[in-house]
Amino acid sequence: MKPPKSIQITAIGSYAPPKVVTNYDLSHMVDTSDAWIHSHTGIRERHVADEEESTSNLAYRAIEDLLESYNLKASNIDGIVCATATPDYPGFPSVACMIAEQFGITGPALDVSAGCTGFIYALEVARAMIATGSMKNALVVGAEKLSGVVDWKDRNTCVLFGDGAGCALLEPSEEETGFIDTLLKAEAAGTKALTIHPEKHAIEMDGRAVYSFAVRTIGSTIETLVKRNNLAMEDIDWIVPHQANQRIIQACSKRYGIPEEKFYMNIDRFANTSAASIPLALREMDRAGLLKKGQKILMVGFGAGLTYGGTLLTWTY
Ligand code: ACO
Repeated sequence: MKPPKSIQITAIGSYAPPKVVTNYDLSHMVDTSDAWIHSHTGIRERHVADEEESTSNLAYRAIEDLLESYNLKASNIDGIVCATATPDYPGFPSVACMIAEQFGITGPALDVSAGCTGFIYALEVARAMIATGSMKNALVVGAEKLSGVVDWKDRNTCVLFGDGAGCALLEPSEEETGFIDTLLKAEAAGTKALTIHPEKHAIEMDGRAVYSFAVRTIGSTIETLVKRNNLAMEDIDWIVPHQANQRIIQACSKRYGIPEEKFYMNIDRFANTSAASIPLALREMDRAGLLKKGQKILMVGFGAGLTYGGTLLTWTY
């Protein structure tokens, strides 16, 4: 099979559960305050799913948003790659298979587990599978119900996370545009800094270690992708980072001399939604008319593993 000239993102969707928990609400549950949470993270509120709502339900709604907003039919979708750290079941069925069944999608369906870098990893898995002909096109989903793996009595972690889902449709094209370059990395020596404890079933994190890892790897990923594609920072229209902490982005901007206004941030309203944070941000930018044909967009993520990575692309619509 002749590989397509390029692979493009041609549609985006998202979903956040309607229930909003503010910092003020949390201050009645643990010893914390809006002032502490906002000054340390940039977060004001987060969306939290109902108990019976699962990760695959959130993913389903995000895909519904994509199909309805772009007037597309599920019967035209071939495959699904879903990034999640919070699948409905610990083994099978995967979230991707559950969604495939609900939408009647019969091509490849698989989950990718790369923590908060999951969406970046999943984009590359889907891109490569389309390029080699294993899939005609793909929905790449990032979906998380982190409220189910948070110890709501631990103020160190419960204030940081939220629930949501986002997705992008990847399609081949004969135009020379779309995905330009991807960098995927892991520093497995840091695994213990961020885990879901198997018995407690709750996120445990060495916040400081993750913080410095994030500042270093976001900065180096952006620099590498810009330099090795013979671009300058001015050529990048938007950096869409994993939304974990506003201070991480501010520190990265200062250390690497990247203008802070290039980073799109919405952590104030969603908190950290792990693999869902980048597509949730993209969909918000899409709705606000911030994404325009020809723009250079750089997505960058980091998270459990420890993993990190980035994708550089030209926006095509
Ligand atoms: N409210 C009030 N006080 C708090 C809270 C809270 N919610 N949480 C912690 N504190 C206290 C601590 O107990 C500590 O008190 P002490 O000095 O009496 O011991 C004090 O605040 C300072 O705690 P630190 O952990 O040093 O605070 P820090 O400034 O490092 O901020 C934070 C903590 C926000 C977690 C920061 O380290 C961070 O953002 N790290 C990166 C986290 C991250 O990116 N996680 C993403 C995970 S990857 C993924 O996305 C899944």
